[in-house]
Amino acid sequence: MNFQLTEEQQMLRKMVRDFAVNEVEPTAAERDEEERFDRGIFDQMAELGLTGIPWPEEYGGIGSDFVSYAIAVEELSRVCASTGVTLSAHISLASWPIYTYGNEDQKQNFLQRLATGEALGAYALSEPGAGSDVSSMKTTAKLDGDHYVLNGSKVWITNGGVADIYVVFAKTDMDAKHKGISAFIVEKGTEGFSFGKKEEKLGIRSSPTTELIFENCRIPKENMLGDEGDGFKIAMTTLDGGRNGIAAQAVGIAQGALDKATDYAKEREQFGKPIAKNQGISFKLADMATNIEASRLLTYQAAYNESEGLPYQKESAMAKLFAGDTAMNVTVEAVQVYGGYGYTKDYPVERYMRDAKITQIYEGTQEIQRLVVGRMVTKD
Ligand code: CAA
Ligand code: FAD
Repeated sequence: MNFQLTEEQQMLRKMVRDFAVNEVEPTAAERDEEERFDRGIFDQMAELGLTGIPWPEEYGGIGSDFVSYAIAVEELSRVCASTGVTLSAHISLASWPIYTYGNEDQKQNFLQRLATGEALGAYALSEPGAGSDVSSMKTTAKLDGDHYVLNGSKVWITNGGVADIYVVFAKTDMDAKHKGISAFIVEKGTEGFSFGKKEEKLGIRSSPTTELIFENCRIPKENMLGDEGDGFKIAMTTLDGGRNGIAAQAVGIAQGALDKATDYAKEREQFGKPIAKNQGISFKLADMATNIEASRLLTYQAAYNESEGLPYQKESAMAKLFAGDTAMNVTVEAVQVYGGYGYTKDYPVERYMRDAKITQIYEGTQEIQRLVVGRMVTKD
């Protein structure tokens, strides 16, 4: 067993960390305050090859692996969780199903543009009445000649409005429950496809979350991913890897908060000595560091398994569950270490605490991760 990152993975970490600290962190607080998405940052990530980390060069990627991808999301989230999820949704949720289930034309046409960063991707599964319970979705897709006609709406879509390519799930058979769901690639600008409400959020405020509306939206038949009825399987297997992207985001948020709390605890003096010299504070930092390391190991293991073709569904759900709770606990404690100053916008830890909460909700709530892990550990 070897826990060392390869030389390539270490170089990628250094490159992404430099980029994150120099180009992403300086505007993170301002973008959070203004709820502003910055396409320029995505374009810079594209120039560095980050938008296509795990995909082969023939499809515009850099031919790396899922551990490198997890490292990139972690390092971005260490300074700005919104930027972390922009990349995670783009790679895990939009590009992965096209790479895995797309035919050669779809890969050449859509994956190529996503991998090079010419296009930004999004994944549209959730609906107002279908969040955890995916198969109760109501959006329909009816075949009409050479087109499917989509009607309905999707909510909470990360990169919604700013993305160019959307992987959208809809029912082609209303009576067949999960077996009646199919997956489609929909391009921004298609007639009948528009954007509704943009959510005002507690955290990850510079990542847009938007409603998608389909009104008699005609999608060419060749934009279906897989076959009719494959949609639920495509959605679930996509989330298997996606959840590990969120685990990586959670590790990054927690590490960023710990780094800041540690520096502060060493500088801030009360009772004539740095507060870090109190065991009450250093034990907090020790627990934070230990849980972050455990989260990171779970996350890298799931990513390694995915790269090596080993099972990763349970591992990824465990990583998201543990890392999400760690991010929440660590950021609450980081605010505590800062005392009253941590409760203000003069310091970044309040942003980390607001951002951490989403890692317990999206890509399946913590309760759904327990359901997934529980089913796997109890199955015969
Ligand atoms: N891989 C392959 N097949 C799977 C699977 C998986 N991971 N999970 C389920 N299946 C199969 C089952 O084996 C079953 O197969 P059969 O048809 O042969 O019986 C079928 O799919 C139905 O499975 P379930 O009975 O388990 O389905 P369910 O209705 O009970 O739902 C669930 C299971 C895990 C709760 C699922 O609905 C779920 O994951 N819900 C959460 C939704 C979610 O995570 N949404 C995230 C949206 S994206 C997002 O949030 C983006 C972002 O953060 C940026
Ligand atoms: P509900 O499903 O209504 O759940 C409410 C509560 O009940 C939760 O605590 C839940 O855990 C619990 N619960 C539900 N069922 C069970 C059960 N069987 N057992 C135990 N407890 C249960 N979706 C996309 O498709 N694409 C995106 O890009 C995307 N991005 C998002 C970005 C943000 C900022 C947010 C907030 C959401 C995003 N989502 C996205 C949607 C997200 O995946 C859902 O919000 C999430 O899956 C939960 O669904 P829900 O909000 O409808 O909650």
